[in-house]
Amino acid sequence: MGGNGAREDWAIVALAEIAAAPTVAALEALRVQYLGKQGRVTGELRALSGLPALERRARGAVLNEYKTDIEHALSRQREVLAQAEQTQRLEQERLDLTLPGVSPAWGTLHPITRVRRRLADVMLRLGFTLRTAPEMETEWYNFEALNMPADHPAREMHDTFYLEAPYVLRTHTSPFQIRAMRDAGGELPLRVATLGFTYRRDDDATHTPQFMQMEGLVLDRGIGLPDLKGVVLAVVRDVFGPTERIRLRPSFFPFTEPSAEVDMSCPLCLGTGCRVCHTGWIEILGSGLVHPRVLEAGGYDPGEVSGFAFGWGVERVAMLLYGLDELRPLYQNDVRFLQAFDAWDSL
Ligand code: PHE
Repeated sequence: MGGNGAREDWAIVALAEIAAAPTVAALEALRVQYLGKQGRVTGELRALSGLPALERRARGAVLNEYKTDIEHALSRQREVLAQAEQTQRLEQERLDLTLPGVSPAWGTLHPITRVRRRLADVMLRLGFTLRTAPEMETEWYNFEALNMPADHPAREMHDTFYLEAPYVLRTHTSPFQIRAMRDAGGELPLRVATLGFTYRRDDDATHTPQFMQMEGLVLDRGIGLPDLKGVVLAVVRDVFGPTERIRLRPSFFPFTEPSAEVDMSCPLCLGTGCRVCHTGWIEILGSGLVHPRVLEAGGYDPGEVSGFAFGWGVERVAMLLYGLDELRPLYQNDVRFLQAFDAWDSL
């Protein structure tokens, strides 16, 4: 038997089996079957030692050739299998770029955010600067400085959340007036507005314990009610529509004198009278000329300077703007409800 003779059957079978191995595991089993410690080739090689020297040599050469052939066959098949696996993986991972794709759920702006931006925007265009003020406020800023001493009956209406003295959660944005005046250090004119959270112990269909107000303050020499009415009318028309009308109704706030509540012609029935307004008018904001004591608390001389202030609820504006009769859905975060405003605003 020489190296060029016909292969023995088992060696032919071995090469055929290896070439047909369908998986890496099957291939490994064949490697063990032929080349492992208990394998056929190993066994044959071990048997060499029992042969006479001359035969051993010839047989050894043949076996080495078989061994090499088997090793080559193994590594070739290993490559074939790796190729096949990669092809399969690429096939599986293939992207069909003509598929429509999965759209993400688009976020939309919260209706309160929409109204906030609208209100801030109109104030900026009217020449006001916007500023913030603390939500945790001292009683002095929230009440005393606004002409509401400790025993003032108006304090009761505010349903205050009291924190550790001297702090409260501000019950309205009006303490911002004092802060704005003090920061301005007597400068004129002063046109400033704020927009932010306020808190009252109140919870029903149209009130939540946390709500928002927007407030504006104008100070200069010779400011009077006509200025107040002009600015408020401009703001209301910008927010609701160019044909809205307003009327000032005498009212009372400790920090303004005189004080007026402003009604707007009902945007739902255009002032003809409906289920919501009954009279054709809707009360929308509180306002008045800044009280002399408030000017003094802010560091201004009421003999020289006058001004007006007005404040309103952001949620209430949202309700009127979007025709809602409840406030709570705005804070329950049902995405279907909140997303409706996107379509609404693009009308
Ligand atoms: N602070 C008042 C309120 O919360 C509103 C107001 C602001 C009234 C400014 C007059 C002037 O009801």
